[in-house]
Amino acid sequence: MMKIILVAGARPNFMKIAPVVRAIKNHNKSSVRKRINYQLVHTGQHYDNEMSDAFFKDLDLPSPDIHLGVGSGTHAEQTGKIMIEFEKVCLREKPDFVVVVGDVNSTVGCALTAAKLSIPVAHVEAGLRSFDRTMPEEINRVLTDQISDYLFTTCDDANENLMHEGIPKNKIFFVGNVMIDTLKAHVELAQKSRILKKLRLRENGQLKKYAVLTLHRPSNVDDQPVLEGILRALNRISERIPVIFPAHPRTISRIKNFKLDDMIFFKNNSLLSDLPKKTILMPPLGYLDFLCLMSNATLVLTDSGGIQEETTILGVPCLTLRDNTERPITVREGTNIVVGNTPNKIVKAALYVLRNGIPRKKIPKYWDGKAAERIIKTLTKAL
Ligand code: UD1
Repeated sequence: MMKIILVAGARPNFMKIAPVVRAIKNHNKSSVRKRINYQLVHTGQHYDNEMSDAFFKDLDLPSPDIHLGVGSGTHAEQTGKIMIEFEKVCLREKPDFVVVVGDVNSTVGCALTAAKLSIPVAHVEAGLRSFDRTMPEEINRVLTDQISDYLFTTCDDANENLMHEGIPKNKIFFVGNVMIDTLKAHVELAQKSRILKKLRLRENGQLKKYAVLTLHRPSNVDDQPVLEGILRALNRISERIPVIFPAHPRTISRIKNFKLDDMIFFKNNSLLSDLPKKTILMPPLGYLDFLCLMSNATLVLTDSGGIQEETTILGVPCLTLRDNTERPITVREGTNIVVGNTPNKIVKAALYVLRNGIPRKKIPKYWDGKAAERIIKTLTKAL
């Protein structure tokens, strides 16, 4: 029997690991030989209910078998704690593979720990590059890929990036996008969410036009003038259509610390009496509520990576508030435009999209809901 440890730690990891768990369960149902014994390790990088537990519930993920409980800290503190705790797990459990996903500190911390113990590492979502080393995620991506043995990619750009960095071709497996596996499995169910009613975006069966915003990258939220400029731009867009902003905890705390509260309408639990002409901030949403909100939106503005991919599949126009993207396929083939974070550019791009929309070009290859199945097939062949 093959033993795999699956690692998840931060919000964007949960939707990437969920289809891998499902693919393992399906594999075990259909194969008596080479059954897979898996353990799910949660590093505890994200720990708030809205950032973690809510996703386990929505995605029907089994509770973690092992919880490292590392919590927040500086990058070195967080990555260091993850490594110290994960090493104990690897020494005790002696897995055949460690599977890490995405590009967060939990990804690189666990990959490095396993590699040093000579445990083969599989990296799901390998090869994406923004070529911007000021992003902590870029460092995590480059390092994780260099020490991984199985590099599972979502697109051709990723394959090429890896080959340029000297990764041998036989370690690279183009399998598609696990995030899209999860989206496809839940998009119908998500329409049952009551979020649109709660926000008065659907009344008497009529859907209103609205925009959805997410913002949490250090380059957008850690600098007062930058954040203030973005909020100013968003309030100009709010004069045209409501802008709904389910905010990451770090962004909420920055808005408060920088005393930018006046630029935001803080939505509490009570029903909105009218939609204010200011960005409407609310706590982070669970997976299904957010998917419902995003799939019915007229426009999405974001600095997230995953949302650029999800809007491409949903056919919803997406403005990326960054200077670059590690997911250029969403611009070439999807509905994404990279606009940067200067206020005038954001407003101009939003007004353009509200007038003209962005046509959906095509669905990227293998973004078909079967990526995790391909990953498990590859791993079972390997042993
Ligand atoms: C992390 C990932 C980022 C990903 C994002 C998604 C890294 C380097 N960054 O960024 O790639 O897009 O998750 O959410 O791994 N906090 C809470 N509650 C939580 C978790 C965090 O309040 O459950 C607050 C804490 O103040 C913490 C801060 O958010 O210090 C930042 O959390 P951290 O995990 O360091 O990075 P993220 O910004 O969440």
